[in-house]
Amino acid sequence: MAVAKQDNPVTQTSINHSVQHTSRMTNSTHFGFTTVSETEKARKVAEVFHSVAARYNLMNDLMSMGLHRLWKRFAIDVSGAKPGDKVLDIAGGTADLTRLFLEKTGSTGEVWLTDINNSMLSIGRDRMLNDGKSVPVAQCDAEKLPFPDNYFDRVCVAFGLRNMTHKDAALREMWRVLSPGGSLIVLEFSKVWKPLQPLYDTYSFKALPFMGKIVARDDTSYRYLAESIRMHPSQEELKQLMQQAGFERVEYFNLTAGVVALHRGYKF
Ligand SMILES: C[S@@+](CC[C@H](N)C(=O)[O-])C[C@H]1O[C@@H](n2cnc3c(N)ncnc32)[C@H](O)[C@@H]1O
Repeated sequence: MAVAKQDNPVTQTSINHSVQHTSRMTNSTHFGFTTVSETEKARKVAEVFHSVAARYNLMNDLMSMGLHRLWKRFAIDVSGAKPGDKVLDIAGGTADLTRLFLEKTGSTGEVWLTDINNSMLSIGRDRMLNDGKSVPVAQCDAEKLPFPDNYFDRVCVAFGLRNMTHKDAALREMWRVLSPGGSLIVLEFSKVWKPLQPLYDTYSFKALPFMGKIVARDDTSYRYLAESIRMHPSQEELKQLMQQAGFERVEYFNLTAGVVALHRGYKF
């Protein structure tokens, strides 16, 4: 699909990229701690984000006690984004990263807000518009990005990779759309420093679903959050996945004792 920068954010910038999972339909995978078919996983992940979208930002502030704002700012700084850059925010949801990238790239840059989930994306797009900011928006699956090869200077995925069924395919797509010299930033929950594990487990499996129930009227989605974090590759495993997808000079930074890790890799 050709990519064109569009001027009208409301009527022209939403690209619906329908996804056909054909040969992969019968394979099994995990949804949190449960084994499900790949199509079932995609459906369940979509359900989670349709359900939490309206309270997503409030829950993020409560659950992380505001720390997610610092993690995201750090990610933007480490990305090296600069005025004029073309940036792709994958699984951008409610547009936190898109907004921060826009501050770096300025009016000469181009920052795309993308996500597979219409409920999350609508909130992200509306937040941008309410701020008087116009960015191109595309509803698309990270595993099949509707952008040409070598198009972006920076690609970012924050707290999204964990939910993807084929992380390897998604990372290869991120590599494909990056221009040589460009970098990928992956911000994601990771493996916490071992001595903190018991405390972190109690917090994740008891406090998070409780907060989800009170604030978002949905404890199941926040139980999935805790489980999906445990199923996500460790810092070193994700580094290897990125290298296998073609990224070079891959390194990571542990944030808040490894609750979150920021990975950066380059395409040369
Ligand atoms: C936890 S939210 C993160 C939103 C935002 N990046 C942030 O940091 O606040 C995860 C997002 O990943 C999106 N997502 C899940 N699977 C995806 C896929 N295959 N392709 C694109 N986005 C996906 C969800 O729809 C959801 O909006």
